[in-house]
Amino acid sequence: MASGIEIEGLVFDAGAQARGSLVNDDDARDRTVSAALQEEDLSFDRSLRPKLLKDYLGQEKVKESLAIMIEAARGRGEAADHILFSGPPGLGKTTLATVVANELGANIKTTSGPAIERTGDLAAILTNLEPGDVLFIDEIHRMNRMVEEVLYPALEDFALDIVVGKGPAARSIRLDLPHFTLIGATTRTGLLTGPLRDRFGIAFRLQYYSPEELASIIMRSASILGVDISEDGALEIARRSRGTPRLANRLLKRVRDWAQVRGEGVIDEDVAAAALSFFEVDSLGLDAMDNRILEMLAVQFGGRPVGLTTMASALSEDPDTLEDVYEPFLMQQGLMIRTPKGRQATARTYEHLGMPAPEGF
Ligand SMILES: Nc1ncnc2c1ncn2[C@@H]1O[C@H](COP(=O)(O)OP(=O)(O)OP(=O)(O)O)[C@@H](O)[C@H]1O
Ligand SMILES: [Mg+2]
Repeated sequence: MASGIEIEGLVFDAGAQARGSLVNDDDARDRTVSAALQEEDLSFDRSLRPKLLKDYLGQEKVKESLAIMIEAARGRGEAADHILFSGPPGLGKTTLATVVANELGANIKTTSGPAIERTGDLAAILTNLEPGDVLFIDEIHRMNRMVEEVLYPALEDFALDIVVGKGPAARSIRLDLPHFTLIGATTRTGLLTGPLRDRFGIAFRLQYYSPEELASIIMRSASILGVDISEDGALEIARRSRGTPRLANRLLKRVRDWAQVRGEGVIDEDVAAAALSFFEVDSLGLDAMDNRILEMLAVQFGGRPVGLTTMASALSEDPDTLEDVYEPFLMQQGLMIRTPKGRQATARTYEHLGMPAPEGF
């Protein structure tokens, strides 16, 4: 402890990094929030991840603003403003963070909210940054408050306030930090505290992708993987990918396997449709869990409002996962609504399930 510096009663040492507060982006993800991501996808995800803005397809408005920010920062030779990306899992927040770092010509250091357990861990990360570095904090809404407060002056004044010594001899000293860019990612902007949100120069909410945009992402992935696919085939997969690039890539992989085993050669619309029905991905791209949610709302609760926790225990699923992973798309598709009394089925839910709606729907 000899070389330790005390901050708010906690000792920090530069070795905090070695204890794993800085981890690989994919290991840093929280299993609960990112339930949509499965183990098998990790290296696959990484191999298909675009490196530059030109390869990052869709999200045109976001890209346009980022391109301006990046060019301005490079022109001035300064670190770019702090950036926040939000949106449902698999839409490309982590990808975009690395793209921004690449375009800035900066190093990226990656960690996540839950991985920074103590203020000392954050202090170690911050003091190890070089000027112009990008610090990426995934799931930033899950950072604890004490840690968050150390981050405020770091973001605003590029300074770290630390308390040295104990009791009456204790005094506060301010360390200068290099100018860096924080990129935060969150699936839940609502859970971010006001002071933290205010410290980002700019915030972007990523939107679900159109089938056409997803089809171009699939064509790009297919060419990287050496998969023979027609435009129609890509569009068929795209339509069933719930607006999400990660799912589009995952479905492409499943369809490729199916086509290979069944000896179908080129993936065209028919092959894609046959493979996807084999994997029980329906025409809207809903999977078994989505359909269980809809059946629960429509059948078990007969269209009456249901609270999130009731729904979670009925489905044996984590409430956060339901809220982050499943609900946004079901709501976007009009298959579920949130009312002050709870979650409810809609006329479209019954239509999708092929059932008559009860009176009053
Ligand atoms: N705009 C895009 N263009 C091409 N591929 C994309 C795009 N966005 C995402 N992808 C692909 O989708 C995969 C998932 O994206 P990413 O890991 O960045 O999502 P995320 O928003 O960080 O998800 P999570 O919330 O689960 O962390 C990437 O590996 C990449 O291959
Ligand atoms: Mg991510």
